[in-house]
Amino acid sequence: MKVVEEEQRIRVMEGPWTTEGVIREIIEEGTQEDPFYLMDLGEVVARYHQWKELLPRVEPFYAVKCNDDKLLLSTLAALGTGFDCASKAEIELITGLGVRPERIIFANPAKLASHIRYASTVGVDLMTFDSETELVKIKQAMPHAQLVIRIRCDATSAQCPLGIKFGCDPLTEAPRLLKLAAVHGLQVVGVSFHVGSGARETGVYARAIQLARALFGLGAAAGHRMRLLDLGGGFPGHAGSCIREVAQVINASLDANFSGCEVRVIAEPGRYFAAAAYTLAAMIHAKREIPTQNEEDGDGLHTMYFINDGVYGSFNCLLYDHQTVVPIPLQSEEGASRMSSLWGPTCDGLDCVVPRIRLPPQPIGGWLIFRDMGAYTLPVASPFNGFPLPKVRAVVDRRLWSVLKELWPLTEDHFVVGERVTGPQTPPPSPLASSPTESLHRTVFVECALK
Ligand SMILES: Cc1ncc(COP(=O)(O)O)c(C=O)c1O
Repeated sequence: MKVVEEEQRIRVMEGPWTTEGVIREIIEEGTQEDPFYLMDLGEVVARYHQWKELLPRVEPFYAVKCNDDKLLLSTLAALGTGFDCASKAEIELITGLGVRPERIIFANPAKLASHIRYASTVGVDLMTFDSETELVKIKQAMPHAQLVIRIRCDATSAQCPLGIKFGCDPLTEAPRLLKLAAVHGLQVVGVSFHVGSGARETGVYARAIQLARALFGLGAAAGHRMRLLDLGGGFPGHAGSCIREVAQVINASLDANFSGCEVRVIAEPGRYFAAAAYTLAAMIHAKREIPTQNEEDGDGLHTMYFINDGVYGSFNCLLYDHQTVVPIPLQSEEGASRMSSLWGPTCDGLDCVVPRIRLPPQPIGGWLIFRDMGAYTLPVASPFNGFPLPKVRAVVDRRLWSVLKELWPLTEDHFVVGERVTGPQTPPPSPLASSPTESLHRTVFVECALK
């Protein structure tokens, strides 16, 4: 058996456990100084099952850009999802995991010619377009591509609207592009859209599916064999969110527009699979008390806390993904709450994580956790000013592990039973370790051969 680093192992949890409890154990070991993520694989699997139950006709193609953590990708690959890749590197990453090219869509309507040629060499045929110049480029680089026309149909409100950049007008541009593709001898096989990431309207999917239906007719009239509908992303991902409502809209609209048709329906969820599975833990390494004139600030003082991850790291999501984050303190001190702010570790004044929040006094060396941090955080983060990016530590419940290990390329030889853990302390192994005590859980460390 190979010796592997702690961070490269998956903890298999037995008995009752919580994300917060596992984070506490890690920091109470006393050696942790850098921020880290705790990734719960169970959340990903639960979401996959929820998708299958609520959207049985729609195949999820996970959007790799959202979070390219290998463990997440490998888990989804093992469960059988497809993948939405936006570049050569993403295609390389996914095919490198052993995913067949038929399970990949190159869903970037404005591609580099060299990336299209690469897709062609590895057999990724399915790709989106939304302009005449893209058609010409594809004709030169990969004339046998299976094209999916991306149309614009925006939710009335979304965390990150995308229609401003991608998607041709379904009424004025798409009909001409479908004809043009036929003139060029290119095959259009379907229609895609993205209603906006973090869409706050569910009815938009019905509007978009109806627009797509009309284009299926026009595409067929232009000589294309239309057989793929791609619903894009936009699905909610935070803890406790559910796709039941949006699934009802989609299923009803598919029944109304595509019942009895031989049409394959896919979607490109990113946030849905990634967000809630990752919890970030960050440490307070400095603080400053400053006078304030703001009457709401009570005693005339405001506390600035400096933490070891900031907007150049995981919290880039505040700038790019328009997220809001809520700190949960793990080790508050006695005393009245005071208006406070949280700042990242870099020397930039822009590096503010939370500008105003009432917090009980926090010690230096205290930790804060932030939930729902799996979407559009890690892949965008940079080690600006020399601050390391958080590593990911993974946990999985024992019951789930027994199922997953059948799917993953791991054998029994890949894991060893770790020491018993009862809370703050890690006592030496004892015969009591396997006896059923209420607060007791056992940790099994598993080599993650997938990293
Ligand atoms: C083409 C495409 N598909 C899918 C996604 C994933 O969207 P979401 O995270 O909202 O599911 C994105 C996000 O930007 C995208 O650009």
